Amino acid sequence: MRKKFIIGNWKMHTTTAEAGRLAKAVVDGVGMEKHVVIAICPPFTCLALVGEILKGSHVSLGAQNLYPEKEGAFTGEISPTMLLDVGCKYVILGHSERRHKLGETDGFINQKVLVALAASLNVILCVGETLDQRKAGQTETVLDRQLVHGLAGLSADTLPRLIVAYEPVWAIGSTGHHAAPPQVQEAHAVIRRRFGQMFGEKAAQSLPIQYGGSVKPDNAAALLSRQGVDGTLLGGASLIADQFMAIVRAGISESRTEEQST
Ligand code: 13P
Repeated sequence: MRKKFIIGNWKMHTTTAEAGRLAKAVVDGVGMEKHVVIAICPPFTCLALVGEILKGSHVSLGAQNLYPEKEGAFTGEISPTMLLDVGCKYVILGHSERRHKLGETDGFINQKVLVALAASLNVILCVGETLDQRKAGQTETVLDRQLVHGLAGLSADTLPRLIVAYEPVWAIGSTGHHAAPPQVQEAHAVIRRRFGQMFGEKAAQSLPIQYGGSVKPDNAAALLSRQGVDGTLLGGASLIADQFMAIVRAGISESRTEEQST
């Protein structure tokens, strides 16, 4: 049985004071919970502080990006070594906001994925189509391209450290659009099938695929109960401790139901 991953992407939010309060509330809320994997990804400026707060807890630390070099003359960038140094276990790569607002290409994302995995970080690779692409019937082609290019050259021994997050661009934030659970299930099936063609059926069955895009306490259970939905990558809801915890509880409840039925 695949574990559920509930991960918060704080994006460009929180001062250090706000981050400290939010991280403490999450640590207290999660307690000794082990049924689901829980991580939070604050902005770079808060990683060290939040890393200290998470020490000894069941909440892991993640970053929202990295630069694919160990060190050097890359003004403004952060390396995998630096992320490991402050206690990061996860890194989000290929987020649509970086693809579409900052012009990141599949090739650049691929470099980051390879370097992050080689540094022993767990990678959350985000993939997803825009509204225009969905309307034009290109969803499968886009997911296919992002997977094939984003994961080119991956060695089999690094696959256990990979998570894919399906994040349809049109459902992220306050767009007014929500992906319905059957649409999410269908896209996850497309991703798993393509991944299986690339890395084999066994690897595909082990791959955690999270969903992200306007997940809130009131729709989390319906999404998490869908076959092949192995967790949620949360934006807005991860900034409010009560909402984040409500979604963690939905994940725990769904994991227990799945455990009982296997
Ligand atoms: P929202 O949950 O705010 O829609 O953001 C999702 C997301 O982009 C997580 O990476």
